Amino acid sequence: MDQNAKKQAVALAALEYIKPDTVIGVGTGSTVNFFIDALASIKHTFAGAVSSSKASTDRLSALGIEVFELNDVDSLSIYVDGADEVTEHKHMIKGGGAALTQEKIVCAVAKTFVCIVDDSKQVPVLGKFPLPVEVIPMARSYVARELVKLGGDPVYRQGVITDNGNVILDVHNLTIINPRELEATINNIAGVVTNGIFALRGADVVLAATDNGVATFK
Ligand code: 5RP
Repeated sequence: MDQNAKKQAVALAALEYIKPDTVIGVGTGSTVNFFIDALASIKHTFAGAVSSSKASTDRLSALGIEVFELNDVDSLSIYVDGADEVTEHKHMIKGGGAALTQEKIVCAVAKTFVCIVDDSKQVPVLGKFPLPVEVIPMARSYVARELVKLGGDPVYRQGVITDNGNVILDVHNLTIINPRELEATINNIAGVVTNGIFALRGADVVLAATDNGVATFK
């Protein structure tokens, strides 16, 4: 099975977690795009969506799915999103699509975070995928120096401005043994908006598409 077929299979599997008449938190990325397309086929069974990016909002709206502002919603039953890396502890690196901050906010509100990946994203230890860090533009050089002190090699993602008007540093060469601690440490650097480690609030369920079907990790 090729990677797109796996993304589609895992996106379809996530539909089972949708509760009738609720508002759904929707992530960002190519795997989530398959999920959004699948949502369109059942759009009359749920109330609408809160989106984590302009790209997902545009895709949801184009398919006739109502998109709510997070501030207008009291609760989200689930949040469905992809990941760049995920471990057996359901810790993740996210932000390959630069949407990490809004993703972290929407997933914080949701009762259940369902992470959808193909099996290429499963790793024993986080860090081979460069860790995205969203940074206030004026703090870019300072934050980069602080990230070097933590042992990483930050690279400015040229030409990318986030939906929040900020920039991204991708931190190479980290071996993230304690993701909860590193997530908090990086978030405490002045000028960091958030980083792409999702461990303090990890996934509740990971659905991973393999050649033999979709595996579920709870
Ligand atoms: C975007 C993300 C995505 O979830 C992550 O990059 C995975 O994307 P894809 O499904 O395209 O591999 O965090 O900011």
